[in-house]
This record gives sequence, structure tokens and C-alpha cells, in this order.
Amino acid sequence: MPAAGLSMNCRSRSILACATLCLALFGVEPYAAAQAAAANSPRQSDHPSKQVAHPSNTQLADPSLEGRVDRLLGQMTLEEKIGQLVQYNDTGDASAVQISKAPQAANKPGAMDALNPARAKSVNTFQLAATGRLGSMLNTVGAERTNTYQHLAVEKSRLHIPLLFGADVIHGYRTIYPVPLGLAASFDPELVVALSQMSAEEASTAGVRWFYSPMVDISRDPRWGRSVEGAGEDPYLGAAMARAYIHGYQGDDLSKPGRVAASVKHFAAYGAAEAGREYNTTDMSEITLRQIYLPPYQAAVQAGAATVMSAFNSLNGVPASANPFLLSKILRGEWGFNGLVVSDYTAVMELTHHGIALDPATATRKAITAGVDIDMMSHFYDTQLPALIRSGQVPMAVVDEAVRRVLRVKFATGLFEHPYAEGVEVTAAVAGHRPLVRKAAEESFVLLQNDKLASGAPLLPLSLASKRVALIGPLADDAEQMIGAWSGAPNLHDTITLRKALAERTQQLGGTLLYAKGTEIDDPSQAGFPAAIEAARASDVAILALGESSRMSGEAGSRTSLDLPGNQQQLLEAVAATGKPVVLLIFSGRPLVLNWAAQHIPAIMETWFPGTEAGNAIADVLYGDVSPSGKLPMSFPRAVGQEPLYYNQFPTGRPPTGIDLSKPPTGDSRFFSRYIDVPNDSLFPFGYGLSYSTFSYRDVKVSRTSIPLPQALANRSTPLLEATATVTNTGDRTATEVVQCYVRNLGASIEQPVRSLKGFERVTLLPGESKQVSFPLGFNELSFFNLESIPMIEASHYTVWIGGDSLASEEASFVVVSPEGKNHSARIQQGRELTNGSNARQKHGLPPPSVKAST
Ligand code: BGC
Repeated sequence: MPAAGLSMNCRSRSILACATLCLALFGVEPYAAAQAAAANSPRQSDHPSKQVAHPSNTQLADPSLEGRVDRLLGQMTLEEKIGQLVQYNDTGDASAVQISKAPQAANKPGAMDALNPARAKSVNTFQLAATGRLGSMLNTVGAERTNTYQHLAVEKSRLHIPLLFGADVIHGYRTIYPVPLGLAASFDPELVVALSQMSAEEASTAGVRWFYSPMVDISRDPRWGRSVEGAGEDPYLGAAMARAYIHGYQGDDLSKPGRVAASVKHFAAYGAAEAGREYNTTDMSEITLRQIYLPPYQAAVQAGAATVMSAFNSLNGVPASANPFLLSKILRGEWGFNGLVVSDYTAVMELTHHGIALDPATATRKAITAGVDIDMMSHFYDTQLPALIRSGQVPMAVVDEAVRRVLRVKFATGLFEHPYAEGVEVTAAVAGHRPLVRKAAEESFVLLQNDKLASGAPLLPLSLASKRVALIGPLADDAEQMIGAWSGAPNLHDTITLRKALAERTQQLGGTLLYAKGTEIDDPSQAGFPAAIEAARASDVAILALGESSRMSGEAGSRTSLDLPGNQQQLLEAVAATGKPVVLLIFSGRPLVLNWAAQHIPAIMETWFPGTEAGNAIADVLYGDVSPSGKLPMSFPRAVGQEPLYYNQFPTGRPPTGIDLSKPPTGDSRFFSRYIDVPNDSLFPFGYGLSYSTFSYRDVKVSRTSIPLPQALANRSTPLLEATATVTNTGDRTATEVVQCYVRNLGASIEQPVRSLKGFERVTLLPGESKQVSFPLGFNELSFFNLESIPMIEASHYTVWIGGDSLASEEASFVVVSPEGKNHSARIQQGRELTNGSNARQKHGLPPPSVKAST
């Protein structure tokens, strides 16, 4: 549960190288030399735990900073040390004036106090701040408020150590951009850097210098509401996005104005909550953990993330917030993480609910010795640590090291020099930031379907001849819903709804907008249907804005149904029955099941929750000022029962090769890995998204077709080969395509996914223009984890696909050969059909592909 203050908008609070390709390696490096450099089998020294990890953040490892930490630590009492490890949120309702005069009332009891009753009675954050017994705060909103607390800490406390203010600024502070899942659909890390920098600049004017972002949990199951907060199901895309957030927030110097420390969350594997139920157990093999779930966290740490948040969930029986394997062995040991770890909200206390600690003292000991430095909201470190240290159950050195980590971040962020909010506080959406968040929203939209009408032209972009436009649906004119879960601190009147934008646009074009809400997001009443049907009848085209409320995803937003909520499906069918062309806009924080719509509605676009410029961005795309370019970061299922459904699945021993899965099984087609009632594949696959133009791919090639195994094992940082393709804009307008590169490895000792994303690039092409796109492939892209958790490459066969989605069909292949010349390539056919894009697409009635494979 996050704190009051900055918020998910459902709560009271609203925070409010690739390396250069080394051609010399391509077959030129003498084989003997390579052989000398590497053995054919992985070395024990290859194990991640045996690698020498360098400090992940050089600023935090600066010796002069360490000197300051030493001097300060030497002056601190035990109580002051523990204070640095304690974090509370600002629960007082008193104004800044009141709080500076009077002690704060005890926190008000609320639902969370039932979970953690001790906290409600005895915490006075003002007193704690003034006496050096509080190190950081979460979700304190506004410069006046943060400064009030900071004055207490800096002026009243004995050692004048400033507080660090953290907040859930997830997709914008005042100027809001698309929810992270939508942003991931842009496949545009540079855009994410720019947006993150923008929100850091805005929030730091209110004294916030620490973001609980990015959330990099892989989510393969859209029932889990927090899918909306991450980059979806793929580790490669997730890692690229994770790096981008860190660079955007932190830049190259945490102490510069407008920079904030990032907190990578939730470490680790929180997104694998069983059955998609929030806070639920996760249980997985170490290979899956390392290969699928860990890469985005690792990428963020390697990019220099200053802090990490430990997760709520248990992993293989050990809660993540008391998990030495995750926090000590992997995070600090293997990855060299030298920042601080903060627990998630009351996660230390929750160790008692997990049943691995029967009392607060044990929970505290387990959390801090596993590597959790700051206790967020449990009220355990401050109450339990003194006795634990006196009794020797927690060594003083453990506390000292945790305090050091906190102080390092405070020194590195320049907090001692600049403790107060600086500059003109940003209190509303910034006009100069609107173009960037509008562009972000436009790039996030995914055009799922765009059928041709009788005229022969696709429904989108809208024809200017369509003068009377009906706008229908509960999400057409609701500013709050446009913002999405984890809203930052927006002013709702800053937000442009679709109704507002389309009213202006239709007027400029000499047309009329006919608006009817039709129904609520989740309400059985059909009282609004007649007006909606009437508006559609009177129009040339009907635009339906349907989907989820922002509260239906985000934290504690798990759903068992992925259908349109309430009676929106009935409204959709009633409007479609008028015979008018319908454009369906889906607002959601997760993939929904859209089977009926895919069969009956000509144009469908996923718009997620687009942010402050929602309406303008949607209008830009509807009217064709911008061609959609987003691609799905999560697979859209045909039925909720398929979940978890993800494209990079493992093969099975019974692939339903050549079987029509759209029909129930007969005797011959039954005993395969399949359902009897729904095809196996997704309705709209990962990586999929249409454009107003079309693209073709040809000449998919690899620069080498054979790589000696010793060479593959020896070169860890330079590419081993390059995969290329020529992509052509075959349509009649300039458009952007996200070119994607997928790899499959067959013949190794451990089975590998049917395909995995290993590269992507946004390419903008004029009509008729072609471009050759290259993807370097090296050890990182081609290796997998073996049973000893060693990343390795074996003599085996690789297939590479380059295209516009995860069903791309243009391929090339190469082999890695052992010195004896074996490559197992004879056994590569198994399961190939599972990934054959064009066949699968046609067979299961998918809309026409965005990419026409050319031969
Ligand atoms: C969430 C975190 C969030 C924290 C602080 C928790 O409930 O899981 O993502 O950062 O609250 O608000």
C-alpha cells in the first residue's frame, strides 16, 4: 500500500553500444588464438557470483564522498543512525503553519493500520524529523510541505542531516505522460529519457529528490493490475526501458539541479504473482528468474540506479524483503550494487504475515541482515533495532553499513548543500512540456485493426468528408481517467479530454461533434444507450471511447476478467448495429479480450492512459497528422484462461503443428499442447501494431553463418555477427516502423524460447524509401543460463527473424560449431511451425499484417 500524499489517483493522495561492430572478429580472428582464449565448455569462473563486480554507481563510490560519510557517521548516536534507516509518509492534514507550531496528532487510523497497528499510535513525523530520528519521507506533497519538514531536520536536529523526500512519480509529476505500459509501446527509449528528465525537473522544484520509479517488473499476466506500471512481458524491451528511465532521472550527476535518485522496483519478480493476484507468491526456476525476470533490474543497476526497492512477494518461499539470495548474492555480490535498498511499504512488517518471522524483532533482523537498509512505514527498525544491537543479534557493522548507504545517496544528491526545494515550484502542467507529452502519447497508441470500408479506403485516418462525428463512451470526457494509475500530482483541469480536442477539431474542419456518454465505466444501467444510438445514427462516423477506469489497474488492481467492464460491450454492439463505421478506442492499463470487436469493428486503437495531452494526441492520430507507430508490449489474449500468455514461451513436446486450432479437436488433433475451445495464440501478438502506411522486409541476412564455439565464449563485449534486413515503406505516406529482431536457439542442452526479442529500432521512411537495418548479436543476445546459472553458448543452431512484430516470417540462420564441427543442426525442425508468422496469423483470423513479407 502506498502512502497518503502522492498517489495512485484512487487514493486520497495525488502525488502526488551497442558496441561498434568489430569486423575483425568475423571469421578473421585466428581460430587457434580463439581456442587458446576459451575452453569449449563454460568455466566455473563464468558463474555470475565469481565475476568481480565493479561498483554500479561511480558517484556513490567516490572516495571524497566516503570521507564525508566517515566523519558524519563517527559523530552519530545509535538513535541517530537508526533514524536514517526509518521512513514515514506525511499523514498529517495540518497546514505547514500549524505543523510548525504544534506537534502533529498521531496518524489517523485507516485500513492499513489493521495490518500494522503499532504505527498508527506512536509516530509523530515532525518530532522525529526535529530530533534526527527520521531519515526520509515518502509522498510529501509540495515545496511548502517538504521545506517545513526539512527546516525541522536541518535546523533543529543535532547533526543537521537533511531528509530525503521520495515520491511515486511514475509517469509525470504535473505534466503527465502515458502510463509506463503505454510508453513501452513506443519502443522509444530516447523518448523515455526525455520524459523522465522532464518529470525529475518538475518534481525537484517541490523538494522531491527521489523517485520510486522505474517499476521494471516483467508481467506476463495481464490479470495483474500492476502490468500498467511496467514495460510488459519482454526482458529485452524491459531492460532498454529500465536504462532509459535511469538516465533520464539521474543524468550523469545526481547532484545537478533537476536530477533525482531513481528507485528500481520491485526487487524481484513481483510481476510473476501467481494467478495475477496482487501481492501473491512467486515461484520459478532460477533459469527463468535470471533469463526473464532479472534483466531489467540488472540493466537499471548497471545504468547506475542509486536505489532499489525490495518487493512484497516471496520468491521460491523466501520473501523478497528478507531474501539474502536476491539482495546480497545477486544484487550486491554479482551486480556490484552500491546504492541503498528501501523496503516496499510495510514490507518488513509483512514478513510476520509471510510467516518467516513470528515477531517484529525477527522480521527486523531478517530484513536488515538480508540487505534492506531503509524500513518504509513498518515502524520496526526504529522500535526493534536498539535491543537487537544491544543483544548482538544484529551486528553494529550491519547498521553502520546501512547508514553509510543512506548517507552516500544524500551526499551524492547534493542534499547537504541544497536541502530545500529550489527554483520556481511547478504547480501545474507546464506549457513548454506539453509538446513532449503529446508526442509520447501519439507514439504510445497501437493501431490494432484498420479495415477497409466499401470505398476501398481504410476507416483511419478519418476522412475529412466525415463532417458529423459521434463521440460516445464513458472515457470520452473524463479528465481523471486520462491520467491513469499513479497519477503524480496533476491538476485535472490541465488535462485535455477527447471531447474537448474533437470539439475543437471538428469545428475547425467545419463539422459537428455529437457527444453522448452512453454508459458509465462499470454500471448496469442502459439509460444512456438511446442517446448514444441516436448520436451514432446522426453521424458519418462513430468514435467509441471505452475501457477500464484508471483504478482498475495499478496497485491492488487485479482482475479475473479481461472483458470491457460493466455494460460497455453491449453499448459497443448497440452502436455497431446502427451500421455506421465505428472507431473503437480502448483505454486500459492492460491487454483486454477484444474478440467480438476484432470481428465486427473496422478500426480499433489501444490508447492506454495517455496523460495530460490525451485528447489532442488522439485527435492527431485519428485525423492522420501522425501515423500510429506503437507496438504491443504485451500479448492480447483471446480468452483470460490463456493467461499467462506470452510470445517467448518454451516449446513443448507436443506442438500442434499443422493443426487448425480454431476448430475443436477431433481424434487426430486432440493429443497436442492445445485448448479444445480457443486457439493457442494471442489475438494480437507482442510487437504487433499497424500503421497508416505499409512496410515490407527483404534480404534478412546474417554476416556469418558459422561461428566457432571458443570464439563465441571468448568475446563477451563485442558482437559476434550482425543481422540485417532491408525495410521499405510500401505505402503512400511517411511513417515510422518499429523494426524488430528475434532469435531462436535450437539444439542446446536446455530448451530455449520459441523466439526472443534481441533488438529493435524505430525507422521513419518516406513513401517508397528503403533502409537497411542492422542488429549486432553477441554473447549477451545469444547466451542462455544453464542449470548452474552460468550464462553460456553451446554448439547449436540459431534462427534470426527481422520484421514488424513477433510473428515476423523473414529469416536467416547460423550455427555455432564446436571444434569437432558439431552443431546439432539436424535437430532444428522441432516446433518451427509454432512461430511461423504468416501461417499462424491467417489461420487464426488475425487482421491483415502490418508488414508484408516480400521474397
Ligand atoms: C508500492 C510501491 C510504492 C510504495 C510507496 C507501495 O505500496 O508497492 O510501488 O512505491 O507503496 O508509495
